[in-house]
Amino acid sequence: MSEFIKTERHDAVQIIRMNRPDKKNAITRDMYHGIADALRQADNDDSIRVNVLLGLPGAFSAGNDMQDFMTAAMSQGSLGGEIVDFLHTLSQSRKPLISGVDGLAIGVGTTLNLHCDLTFATPRAVFHTPFVDLGLVPEAGSTLLAPGIMGHQRAFALLAMGEAMSAEQALEAGIVWRIVAEDVLESEVLNAAQKLAARPPTALQLTRELMKSQPEPLNARIDREAQIFADRLKSAEAAQAVGAFLSRKK
Ligand code: COA
Repeated sequence: MSEFIKTERHDAVQIIRMNRPDKKNAITRDMYHGIADALRQADNDDSIRVNVLLGLPGAFSAGNDMQDFMTAAMSQGSLGGEIVDFLHTLSQSRKPLISGVDGLAIGVGTTLNLHCDLTFATPRAVFHTPFVDLGLVPEAGSTLLAPGIMGHQRAFALLAMGEAMSAEQALEAGIVWRIVAEDVLESEVLNAAQKLAARPPTALQLTRELMKSQPEPLNARIDREAQIFADRLKSAEAAQAVGAFLSRKK
């Protein structure tokens, strides 16, 4: 388990927390592995009925760790097995998943919420996917899920144009369930998780399964995006844009 992923239990609820404050919760391969492990653990443990995914105050996640995924793309020629494994585990995880977003939700920090059953956000949450500006393409099945949830135009503005969405806009677009104040975010998320955990678990799981998109097209899209994403990482466009971030002077 990565030192930056912490799990804790509250009765039947497992809390998975991204905890890398120095890097605004930019996610490394190790961290993807840690989250995927926790989700798998929940799938194999009947005593865990609901998963909760949290970040830190002001930083849900700054997205993929740019240095780490550049290293993976250059050395392995792919996005990194851990990332693709995480995305598949996330999309196929059998227990309900609730996220709580405060502050930055960039890149995968936005797109992973499309796999969540409920997302709580604070008024200062900002959802932003600057993939195209980085010479990349969206990932996590978001090119399939986002248009389905919010319609082509809003999804295009978010994913292709790189327009940031406020919490209010995200609520309206259907990727946020409730906006709550910063100081009650975690208690509200836990409260909802505990309510869900008290429901008959098999009926809940079956209902969720029926409501999820068909797994095959989603899995295929995750793989296709990942392949294009990895190719893009090696492109001149990405080298310039990601390189500019990595070598910027403060
Ligand atoms: N990958 C790697 N490191 C990242 C990161 C990322 N995605 N996001 C932030 N960090 C690091 C910064 O390099 C910095 O590290 P340092 O202190 O060693 O220099 C640290 O996290 C804090 O970030 P900083 O930029 O100083 O904070 P800020 O509040 O001024 O800005 C962001 C925060 C998130 C807006 C800015 O860091 C950013 O734009 N990050 C890139 C986000 C992105 O494009 N993600 C999508 C990838 S597909």
